[in-house]
Amino acid sequence: MSRPLKIYPALLMIAALTAALCIFGGCAKDTVPSDISEEIAIVPQPLSVETLGGGFLLGKSRIFVENGDSETQRLADLLANLIEQTSGRRPSVTEGYDSGRDSSKMPIILSRSDQAAQEEYTIEITADHAVLSGRNAGLFYAIQVIRQLLPAESLGFDPKTMATALPAVRIRDIPRFSWRGMHLDVSRHFMPVDFVKRYIDYLAMHRMNIFHWHLTDGTGWRLAIDKYPLLTDKGAWRKDIRKEGWDFTKIVAAEENDPAPYGGFYTKDDVREILAYAAERYVTVIPEIEMPGHASAALYAYPEYLCSNADSTNREFRNSGVFCAGKEETFTFLEDILNEVIELFPSEYIHIGGDEVSKRFWKACPECQARMKAEGLDDEEELQSYFIRRIEKYLISKNRRLLGWDEILEGGLAPEATVMSWRGMQGGVKAAEQNHDVIMTPENLCYFNLYQGDPDLEPKAWGGYLPLNQVYSFDPVPEGLTGDSAKHVLGGQGCLWTEFVPTEEMAEYMILPRLSAMAEALWTPAGQKDWDSFRRRMTKQYRRFESLGVNYAKSQFNVYFDVAIDPDNFNATYSLVSDAAGLDMRYTLDGSDPTASSTLYDSPFELDESAVVKAASFDGDTMVSGVRSETYTRHLASGKKPVLSLDYSSRFPGEGEYTLTNCRYGSKAYGDGQWQGFLGSELVVDIDLGAVTDVSEVAVTSNHNPSVWLFMAEGLTVELSRDGKKFTPAATVKNETDQQTKGPIISELKATFAPVAARHVRARIKGLGKCPEWHVGSGAAAWLFVDEVVVK
Ligand code: ACM
Ligand code: ZN
Repeated sequence: MSRPLKIYPALLMIAALTAALCIFGGCAKDTVPSDISEEIAIVPQPLSVETLGGGFLLGKSRIFVENGDSETQRLADLLANLIEQTSGRRPSVTEGYDSGRDSSKMPIILSRSDQAAQEEYTIEITADHAVLSGRNAGLFYAIQVIRQLLPAESLGFDPKTMATALPAVRIRDIPRFSWRGMHLDVSRHFMPVDFVKRYIDYLAMHRMNIFHWHLTDGTGWRLAIDKYPLLTDKGAWRKDIRKEGWDFTKIVAAEENDPAPYGGFYTKDDVREILAYAAERYVTVIPEIEMPGHASAALYAYPEYLCSNADSTNREFRNSGVFCAGKEETFTFLEDILNEVIELFPSEYIHIGGDEVSKRFWKACPECQARMKAEGLDDEEELQSYFIRRIEKYLISKNRRLLGWDEILEGGLAPEATVMSWRGMQGGVKAAEQNHDVIMTPENLCYFNLYQGDPDLEPKAWGGYLPLNQVYSFDPVPEGLTGDSAKHVLGGQGCLWTEFVPTEEMAEYMILPRLSAMAEALWTPAGQKDWDSFRRRMTKQYRRFESLGVNYAKSQFNVYFDVAIDPDNFNATYSLVSDAAGLDMRYTLDGSDPTASSTLYDSPFELDESAVVKAASFDGDTMVSGVRSETYTRHLASGKKPVLSLDYSSRFPGEGEYTLTNCRYGSKAYGDGQWQGFLGSELVVDIDLGAVTDVSEVAVTSNHNPSVWLFMAEGLTVELSRDGKKFTPAATVKNETDQQTKGPIISELKATFAPVAARHVRARIKGLGKCPEWHVGSGAAAWLFVDEVVVK
């Protein structure tokens, strides 16, 4: 696998010249670099890697194919290309290997082994030979590992950094899971064919084997269907509002005379080209055709498949469009589409979406209601289940299997469906326990549209928080799932939803390096995963990304604060942590940005008074990260146990019962562990200060991010009491910021007043309760996220 490079012939010329200069100039091209073993850094980590010392010189090597077929021959050529591009010299490829005759020829033997499992391989490299053994995917993976055994810089095909040798090593390997996937949403933003191929390259280099192609959604239909040309003529093009960022409320179909509509689609030839490219890299492409929901773009093109009570002139390209489940014609339409999808895509699985289906129209559609009556369906959940079962039956009749998001469990699972669990792993567990196959992609661990670092240091993303170490911690088999049920977990995958990913560069940024962590979570046996080893190996992986010219994220170089609060005195012990290895961390406590001469972090430090902690990572004198900043705030309520009128969500517990008085603020990432999430229109926080004290200020911070249904506090009323019984209002402040303000932002409400002697402080924090009219979730419960109640 290699990136197609147009400048390659020119580079080879230079390489040849360099080689010639080396011969005459006497450079040490035929010695193995002394540090070659230290450079072994394979990602994902194989089952076993044994370093033998020394290495194998590439300079006179030849490739021999043993027991090969035409595919092994192709792989031998691929290996020859790799060595040519990285060392400047192409080894010959010979069919057949004779140990008597050929063993002195610096042989690289590609040995086809019929006994090996499909994805299994071994590599043995000594000073005398290199043997790659396996078949098909296994041999392909062996070549990917050879690529990683080469110097990272050689992957850039730069004649100054050509490879001379491979380290001596013995590797045995087979993946933990058969489904090692990565998803790409091309509906929110269309991605061109060349980029899709590059995306597949990134999968292949990580020995990932599934590309889940999210081809249709409310915001654009991306696959040409011959029988229904309007799907792409109309459904693939929308008004270009990219300058305004992502705003669901403004996404509408392009006018017919729009001179520059925004969008695109794949022709069938495009798809065939991508399928062939993927097949050569042992990547299976799974097409996703969304139904019955996420269908606005298709329904704009063919409004006759809407419920008859829906507005057929609607131009909005939203998530919410749903096919009518009552009309017989809907099924004909979808089966026609599936026929063309099946003809095009060879995958066993066809993903039919099935997520987030609004039942709003179904509830009042005469055809849908008639269908429910005729089929004896009790509610609209069962109507959804009817829909999916019917589509499954059709797919099975075509020898394909249905795959859908975990909502397909609702109303009863189709008999042979495979479930992709995104709303946590519970849906997957439930399906596995019913003997259905499952792919785990819980959003909190697998959605690469989430922030990978402090939002203050990141480009705009969807929300949430998913740094590298959390991806690494992903295990698709949750505790408690054992035996045969656990065997139903085929694996997992990362997902890239592209609302905030309008460009190829941004897509690379969001998936790399998190894809490396995902690959290891899916490939390496759980007991052999080792975060520290991964961090160290990633140092070379970053150099590979540099050589390949990839726009990978640097978020993992940022510093984290791991803070332990002493329960007796609420002093804080700060540890500085990084997801990257081998960098210096420096910090300040006076609010200034760290420099190369700031204090070098070497052990945890304690704070007993308020301070602003700022930290950054340095490679020598060069700062290579953003500046992380956190305020440690001592106040009258520090460490006092707050009594809350609402239960905090088990999904967003912060640090538990002391979260609101733990002296720490959250970042803009609502999932960073400092925010407590509540549902309700008022949160009352009662704090007993322990003794009567003068109080003159109460402040509350809330997190605001409407795109994830999270709204800042509307107001704060402070009441004070000496005895905890009779409370007197002290002050009320209203939030003047418009709730329509885009997030994420942190909103502070501060009530100040003349000092009052009080022991008991009551903060009434007003939330919205329900999502407002203008919001996509209008009427549904709104989140209130609070991180601290500061009393002074
Ligand atoms: C999904 O994120 N709606 C599958
Ligand atoms: Zn209907």
